[in-house]
Parts: sequence; C-alpha cells; structure tokens
Amino acid sequence: MSKPTHSCQRPRLLHSDLPASLCRNSAAVEHSEGTVAPCGFSQDRSKIPSHRPEDNLGSLPFLSSSDSILLMYISGFGNECASEDPRCPGALPEGQNNPQVCPYNLYAEQLSGSAFTCPRSTNKRSWLYRILPSVSHKPFEFIDQGHITHNWDEVDPDPNQLRWKPFEIPKASQKKVDFVNGLHTLCGAGDIRSNNGLAIHIFLCNTSMGNRCFYNSDGDLLIVPQKGKLLIYTEFGKMLVQPNEICVIQRGMRFSIDVFEETRGYILEVYGVHFELPDLGPIGANGLANPRDFLIPVAWYEDRQVPGGYTVINKYQGKLFAAKQDVSPFNVVAWHGNYTPYKYNLENFMVINSVAFDHADPSIFTVLTAKSVRPGVAIADFVIFPPRWGVADKTFRPPYYHRNCMSEFMGLIKGHYEAKQGGFLPGGGSLHSPMTPHGPDANCFEKASKAKLAPERIADGTMAFMFESSLNIAVTKWGLKTSNCLDENYYKCWEPLKSRFTPNSRNPAETN
Ligand SMILES: [Fe+2]
Repeated sequence: MSKPTHSCQRPRLLHSDLPASLCRNSAAVEHSEGTVAPCGFSQDRSKIPSHRPEDNLGSLPFLSSSDSILLMYISGFGNECASEDPRCPGALPEGQNNPQVCPYNLYAEQLSGSAFTCPRSTNKRSWLYRILPSVSHKPFEFIDQGHITHNWDEVDPDPNQLRWKPFEIPKASQKKVDFVNGLHTLCGAGDIRSNNGLAIHIFLCNTSMGNRCFYNSDGDLLIVPQKGKLLIYTEFGKMLVQPNEICVIQRGMRFSIDVFEETRGYILEVYGVHFELPDLGPIGANGLANPRDFLIPVAWYEDRQVPGGYTVINKYQGKLFAAKQDVSPFNVVAWHGNYTPYKYNLENFMVINSVAFDHADPSIFTVLTAKSVRPGVAIADFVIFPPRWGVADKTFRPPYYHRNCMSEFMGLIKGHYEAKQGGFLPGGGSLHSPMTPHGPDANCFEKASKAKLAPERIADGTMAFMFESSLNIAVTKWGLKTSNCLDENYYKCWEPLKSRFTPNSRNPAETN
C-alpha cells in the first residue's frame, strides 16, 4: 500500500458554508432539497493539552497557558451524523460506504452496535475511514484484571442498607494509576455471556493513559466524573468531560483518558443493550434530557507511530487482555453513522416535578435508560436530582420512606443530598437493595415535618444521581471489604426515629 497522504490545507467548505469539521447530517441532507442543514454543534475551549506526549504514562499531561485548544461537537442524541477531520477534506466516500479505493487511501471499517437485522429504529452502526484497520495488532494476551470482576458470588449477599465514605484516590506521589488500572467493581448482577446485566465501577486514578487505550466488548460504559476533568480520546474524536457532565462510550469503541489531577468517578456498565432517552408519554415532545443537548465529538486523527508499542486493552467476558500495535488507534480521519460516543451536561436537564402536592415518582428524573425486554422495566436507569424548586403544598417534601423492588445505587457529584445532610458525601455512595427499607434520616424527617411550606430552592449546588436497576445487585469483595470505605454506622441515622403516634388525636398539630 502506498503511504497515505494528508493535506494540511484549510477545511473545505461544504454546501452551506459549514466547515468540514462540522457535521453533515444525513437525515437533513435527504430531506432538505439536497442541501446540508446547519445541524447543531457546540464547543469547549479549555486548558487542555494540544498534543499528546509520546509517552506520558506515569505523568500528568503538561499544561501551559498556551495549551488551549478548541474541541468541537456535533449535537443530537442518536443522530445519523458524518464528520471529517478538516485536514483531509473529502475523506468521506460519497454515495457509498465501501469504495474499491477510499479517498486518501484510507481503510473502511464498520463498527456495528446492533445486530445487522435490528429494526431501523434500533439499528446502530458507524463507518470509520482510518489509516490502518483495527485488526493491525499482535495477539491479545491475558493480563491481571486488578479489581475488575463480574463474579457476583465473591461474598455472601448483604440485604442491609449500605453506604460508602468517599472512595480514596491513590496519591500520584505514591503510585501511578491510570483509568484502567484504577477501575474497581463495586457491585453488579447478571451475566456478560448472555448480554443481560450490569456492573457499577468506581474509577480512582491520578495518571493519564499515555500509549494505552481501552475498549469494552461486554457493554456500554456510562461515565460520571466526580472529581477532575477527563480528556477522552476516542476513535470518533476528542471529548472533554468535566464533573457535572456524563459521557457514554458504547461497546467496542476504543478510548484513552488523560487526567489532570487525582481523579474519581462512577461508571454504570450495561451488558448487551444501549442507553436510550426515556419515553415522555403525557409530558409531550419536550423535557427531561432534550436530544439536542447530547454532544458527539467531531473527527480527529493522529498519524502517530509508536516504536515502543501501543497497548490496546480489551475487557472481554469480564477479563482483561492486552495487545501491542505500532500505531495510535486514533487514526480515524472521517466517520459517519449513528453509533458514536457522546456526552451530556447535567445542567441542561429540564426538571419536571410536582406543582400541587405529593411527589412524582423519581423516574421523572431519568436522563437515560437501558431497557430490558420487559416493557417499562430497565436493566438500569440513570437518574439525577438536580437543583430545582420545591413548591408542593401540604406535603412532606423530602423523599418518602419506601421499599422498592428495584436496586438503588446512589452517588453524589457535589453538594449535599436533601434526605441525608451528613454521611452521604461527594465521591461516596449508597446501595439500597430490593425491598430494603430506606428514607430520610431522623434529623431530616424532624425538620421537614415542621418546615413552613413556602416555595424553596432544593439542591442548589448539589448533584446527586441514582443508578436504578431491576436486577438484584450483589456487592463485590472490594466493595464490602477491600475498599475499606463501607460506613458501618449507616443504620444509626434512622435510630433516633421515634413513635409520634397520637392515638387520641387525629390531628397532631392540635395536640402539640
Ligand atoms: Fe430509594
């Protein structure tokens, strides 16, 4: 094969003055009289490295005042998009996916995210045009998987309410840990081989991945950074994901993460299904997480040889494997399709809630759902509790006491969760298993029972979230023991609850 050539000329302007770095939305092309509609895009201008060190594993990326680059995104959840790195205008073949010779002598490669025969509404695939196909690597070999597991029988089940103090991030001065080495499986359920289940992981890292990338053959990863920015290189382009944003890296997509400080976050992995926006029913066409606020990176490539060997790490059937290759995997010059990574800023969530009395069920706060085959029942929902107004009349406003047939894992990105003012801290978590009772602590109940019911702001400066699953989640040995973060005193927050029963007075206010 002849060596690919790369033009460094300015981006080609497409039909409607859109630079080639922006998207070409195929749906818009097909239905807008042959013109290219100016589909939405967004950008981050952040202090992040403008290039990668040749080998920065073991060190934080160098930052300087001149290291500001522009990251651009295509917008729209699940859209059929197309993107070219502006250094190679016209890299996307026109009129077909797999020409005999691709522009710039690129290789065409399809990444399938659904069975070929899925209905059109759920069919997911993208075409990648790259300098070398992904298959150009040495064989995969088994490597130590650290604290990643899918063995849900490591320890005996525990039906108690569980709460974790903030998971400890290793100090870079003591031990270099990157995103993959820093993955710890906290809990999970189901079976990878039958594509049915989930895992919740905590990532705790202090070092960029350098010449290492990761891809997951087992499922999609919904990543929730809690401390520290993530600069994520993917085959589709680059994303900057900060705390209070989330991203989804779908099954099979290769990515590498740079971090800039000691970094922590949560991951919801779902096997065999993809995240969707929840149906809105009577809410109507708008609300909750709006599709236009989901951002997809634009194409970006590096034609980088790695003489010492680039390591591709694969999670396959719950185990880790590594293969060496001589080039960066981020060599996709152009792509099109509807199977992409994406990110979402939780501030954009349009909150809907009670404006009369009582509570709407917390499902009203669902950002994304990974559906099971049973209608209305999710493998996992990603639910948030954002800042909002509380205005319900004659109502106990904090979350009510309840027992749920679902498993509820909660995490806190920042602030103070309204039902637990102490003990549930950013970077920690809690798990309330099926039919395990829980609710506000005694202090919260006392205060909320007497509070004047004026309109009030709730959760300002706070972002709590929940991974809610229909599966019966088991906690790992790391979660219960090795992490050393389990709060043995959690149950005590309910101990001060006392009987308030007034058998001789239906209206306690008259008695008091
Ligand atoms: Fe709950």
